Amino acid sequence: MTYLRLDLMPKLQSIMRRRFLARTNVLAFLFAVVFVFLCVRYLPERECQSNRQTSGSKLKHRLIALILSSPDNLERRNTIRKTWLAEHDATVKHFFVIGTQDILPEQRNTLQSEKQKFDDLLLLPRLQDSYGTLTKKVLHTLKAVHEHYDFDYLLKCDDDSYVLVHKILKELDKWQSKGTKRELYWGFFNGRAQVKRSGPWKETDWILCDYYLPYAVGGGYILSYNLVEFIAKNADILKLHNSEDVSVGLWLAPLANIERKHDVRFDTEYRSRGCSNQYIITHKLTVQNMLSMHDYYQTSLGALCPKEFRNRMSYQYNWTVPPSQCCNRQSSIP
Ligand SMILES: *[C@@H]1O[C@H](CO)[C@@H](O)[C@H](O)[C@H]1NC(C)=O
Repeated sequence: MTYLRLDLMPKLQSIMRRRFLARTNVLAFLFAVVFVFLCVRYLPERECQSNRQTSGSKLKHRLIALILSSPDNLERRNTIRKTWLAEHDATVKHFFVIGTQDILPEQRNTLQSEKQKFDDLLLLPRLQDSYGTLTKKVLHTLKAVHEHYDFDYLLKCDDDSYVLVHKILKELDKWQSKGTKRELYWGFFNGRAQVKRSGPWKETDWILCDYYLPYAVGGGYILSYNLVEFIAKNADILKLHNSEDVSVGLWLAPLANIERKHDVRFDTEYRSRGCSNQYIITHKLTVQNMLSMHDYYQTSLGALCPKEFRNRMSYQYNWTVPPSQCCNRQSSIP
């Protein structure tokens, strides 16, 4: 029989409690380490951080900017990083989107180190990056972004687009302050594009009508959250056509309560209309064009071009006439 001195009991209990606590602390610490490791390793970038910041709910961004790029366009991405993305706005989150299926090991390594360095790549492992998969790329991207991020608006543009993000944010505030409860589909619209039957953008199974439905051309357009959500939720049953912008116009066609905002300040057609100081987005720029446009914008304190010029005419979209008559080009419009 052990005989414990009663006056030793509290001391013994306290020692045992301390040992128990120490062990629990070690376990808790180990769990934390494993959790953080798994989090960093497997969740998409920023997910861990935003979860921590807002304890469970997603951090809300005003604008998500998706810049469609391709594996080898590092120079373009770096140019955008140091030009129009250089002034980092905390409410804006940007991603360069790249399909990485079947890329070469060297390309994969380069992309991995770029991803680590800049933390702004959205890599799509199940997408082969090519002209022919652009629509799928946009669809996968909208799905991924909808799944992992909360935001008010989304911009889709290309890595040869120059975007004045602060102007977009200002215009969005203005649009919202009008108290509209409508969804926003904002860009440079075309309603009279005839279905292409040859060339890189040919549509072999567009059988709905002679023209595409009105759509915002692909060099840059903006969608409000609910439109992205609609597309993301229906991604599996949507018909994909060759052109991503044509497809988005088609997907959003049946929705009520949507404002299709045609804006001549979006120089987002497949060929640039020239240079105007009114432009918010300019498309089809070479790396050199983009650098000099940005330099000029900085030194001139807000003008894009030393001399405005026009390569082709523009139009105000007329929504009161049939789409085939929507878009009469005139020389007085930027
Ligand atoms: C749209 O077309 C109608 C009919 O031709 C015309 O009366 C109207 O002024 C046009 N609106 C715009 C904004 O061009």
